[in-house]
Parts: sequence; C-alpha cells; structure tokens
Amino acid sequence: MMSQDLYAVIGNPIAHSKSPDIHAQFAWQLKQNLHYERLLAPLTGFVPAVREFVLRGGKGANVTLPFKLEAYALATQLTPRAQAAGAVNTLRFDGDLILGDNTDGVGLVADIVRNAGVNVKGKRVLLLGAGGAARGVILPLLDQAPEELVIANRTESKAITLAAQFAQSGVVSSAEFHALQRPFDIIINATSASIAAEVPPISSLVFGDGALAYDMMYGKDQTVFMHFAQHHGAIVRDGLGMLVEQAAESFFVWRGVRPNTASVFAALRNKLA
Ligand code: ATR
Repeated sequence: MMSQDLYAVIGNPIAHSKSPDIHAQFAWQLKQNLHYERLLAPLTGFVPAVREFVLRGGKGANVTLPFKLEAYALATQLTPRAQAAGAVNTLRFDGDLILGDNTDGVGLVADIVRNAGVNVKGKRVLLLGAGGAARGVILPLLDQAPEELVIANRTESKAITLAAQFAQSGVVSSAEFHALQRPFDIIINATSASIAAEVPPISSLVFGDGALAYDMMYGKDQTVFMHFAQHHGAIVRDGLGMLVEQAAESFFVWRGVRPNTASVFAALRNKLA
C-alpha cells in the first residue's frame, strides 16, 4: 500500500472534534492520499506529543484548546496572521522547520463574505470578547477594510489593550458593553458566554437594519445570543461555517489545494440536526 501522509488534530479533550471528519471529506474530494487522526495530548505534555507525532511521520496538525499558545511558542516560523493572533491553530512540519499559522480569522471572514454573502468592507463591525478567539480574528477583519471595528469586553481593560495593539492595522477602538448604544452592521460574538447560555449585556440598539449577528459557537440549536439577535431583527449565523472554512484554509496550507466547502458544511449541518 502506498504510504499515506499523516495529519492530526491535537487537543485535550479531543474526542468530539469534527476535524477528522471534515479533513477526510476534503481528502476524498481532492483525491489526496492522507490520514487525519485525533490526538489527545496530556494537559502538561503538548510538546512531547507533537515531537512523537512528527517522529511517526506527521506532516501537519491542527491545534485546539488548550494548546494554541503552546503551539505558537513551539513554532520555529510564524505567519503574520499567527503573529497577530498570538496563537497557532495550524502546524506544518518540514524537516526541522515547524511553521505556525492561524486560519481561524480567515475562516470567519470567508464564512461571512462568501457563505453569508455579507461584505465587511465599509461596514461597522462590533466584536464582542477579547480572549483568544477574538484576538485571532481582528487582523483578518481589519484586512477587509471595515469602516470601523469596535471591540467590547466584560473586562474592558482587555479590549483597550487589543484595540491599541491593532491601531496600526485599521480603524479600531474599544468600548464598554453598556456604552454601546448605536447600530452596527456586523456583530460577532467571540465570547465564551454562549457555553454558559449567557448573552453579553449589550443593548438591542447594536443590531442595525439588516445586521448580521454571528456567534462563533455552534450546535444543534441556536445559541442564546442568536435568539436575542434574531428577536431584535438581525440575520443570525452560527460558527459551523467558520469551523469548515478554517479547516479548508489549513488543508490549503498543507496540501496547496483548496477544498470545496459547501458540501462538507451541508453534511456537518445534517449530522448536527
Ligand atoms: P477564548 O479562547 O474562547 O476566547 P478566553 O481567552 O478565556 O477564551 O476568553 C473568553 C472571552 O469570553 C473573554 O472575552 C471573556 O470576558 P472577560 O475577558 O471579561 O473574562 C468572555 N466571557 C466569558 N464569559 C462571559 C459572559 N458570561 N459574559 C460576557 N463575556 C464573557
């Protein structure tokens, strides 16, 4: 049998990751001879797990919670978007070289622009949250030249720090949740509040006419944020498309070919139902 190139998603926990399913569909679609597995790394053993994987012939890996910062530290070379994110979700192994990339932000932008059909250029964008998920999408959003990007967070100091950090890359500012009393065109929930079935305490005034409200979380049912936004007239979308698009971008980083994402997205959505 011809040897297959080896890839993995590394995290803890990892049992429920959809990445092996997604990448298997991409590989089938593009006739790529590869194997993509789940790798559970011990919480204190990320680096040894990666080294062992490379010794087994691993060519690349996706990295998920809680190891994205350790992957950033491990990389010997970082793409600009990984540098800006301060985190790595995609590793490519090439001899002694470990390339660290981050495809989360371009995945989000692809899902908004291509799949939801909403351009970011010239729009008023509100980003809720200032943790790792938020930070990872700021540069790719600013690259689309929105009219402005406002970052709001429960702990306001973190939003202020992020806005200052990206000041050179576009029109970006920070705000307190309660101070947001005006409409936006695109509202992105990058907080982890949905996990606790909570909605960040924002005014319904942030949902401008025809606004898109995007939750990076996804599941069988709408998140409470999506409920809230839809109730106030927004078009809502969950993060399943972002998941598929970031995977497609990782696939491209590794294999140099772009999967078609629509059929994979539809299949995943069906399985969630
Ligand atoms: P992630 O990698 O998912 O971004 P994180 O770095 O722990 O995880 O960040 C979680 C984000 O969700 C933070 O912005 C956090 O706000 P704080 O910085 O104030 O902690 C936000 N968050 C979590 N629970 C929240 C809630 N119930 N309401 C509003 N924001 C919440």
